[in-house]
Amino acid sequence: MHPTLNIAVKAARKAGDIILRYHNQIDILTIENKAANDFVSEVDKAAEDAIIDELKYAFPTHSILGEENGEILGDANFQWIIDPLDGTTNYLHGFPQYAVSIALHENNEVTHAVVYDPFKEEMFTASKGEGAYLNEQRMRTTNTDGFKNTLIGTGFPVKSPQHLEAYLEMFKAIHPKVAGIRRAGSAALDLAYLAAGRIDGFWEIELNIWDIAAGVLLIKEAGGFVGDFSGRDKYLETGNVVAGNEKVFKEILKTIHPHLTADLQR
Ligand code: IPD
Ligand code: CA
Ligand code: CA
Repeated sequence: MHPTLNIAVKAARKAGDIILRYHNQIDILTIENKAANDFVSEVDKAAEDAIIDELKYAFPTHSILGEENGEILGDANFQWIIDPLDGTTNYLHGFPQYAVSIALHENNEVTHAVVYDPFKEEMFTASKGEGAYLNEQRMRTTNTDGFKNTLIGTGFPVKSPQHLEAYLEMFKAIHPKVAGIRRAGSAALDLAYLAAGRIDGFWEIELNIWDIAAGVLLIKEAGGFVGDFSGRDKYLETGNVVAGNEKVFKEILKTIHPHLTADLQR
């Protein structure tokens, strides 16, 4: 494993330990509403602080962007992007589908990625050009021939309800063509599952960069495709994400295209 990735894995494990320590004592946590349907607990904050400590110790000059702490300025060419707990709503309900997501964004591309599910002890990792792994096993996306018999992941636009109508039209268009659609509640894990071949495709509107930075590298290194709603590569900026094996990626783009509002055509 690349030494840089190794540090990120260590940081993810520390955050995972904090997350697990409280996972069956959720009633003692203080929960704040950051915005409508956007919750944060002291576990999110403590997990992010643990990751930052680890990264700062190993890479004192790097910059960091964390969901809970915002930006820590440093060398802009090396930016760590952290979601300490992706799937907070699940976590706060004891629904075991959540993960730590850590990525290194180096000169405008993601070079190292970790998505860690502490509950299931699944560590998804990738370094650019070196493949993607689940624990020690190499991951590959599926190779279905189009939509038939596929399982598709998605997320509802809970934080951007203005897109709900457009989203539902996309859903109605995809639903009859596939075997199933899942809304599991952690975008980072959805992308990791796509890399692992557990789902064949994924789409979601307006995610944050920390939800997806690690997951997109996992998918690319597992042989999959990621794009924005035009199929281009602006997904880290827009948060609009389509992903899949080659055929499913193209099918999703084609199927949602007629339902894109002006706002979503980016
Ligand atoms: C959320 C999850 C969810 C997605 C939301 C994200 P959080 O992240 O990734 O799957 O649908 O848009 O905000 O708030 O649990 O870190
Ligand atoms: Ca998130
Ligand atoms: Ca989060």
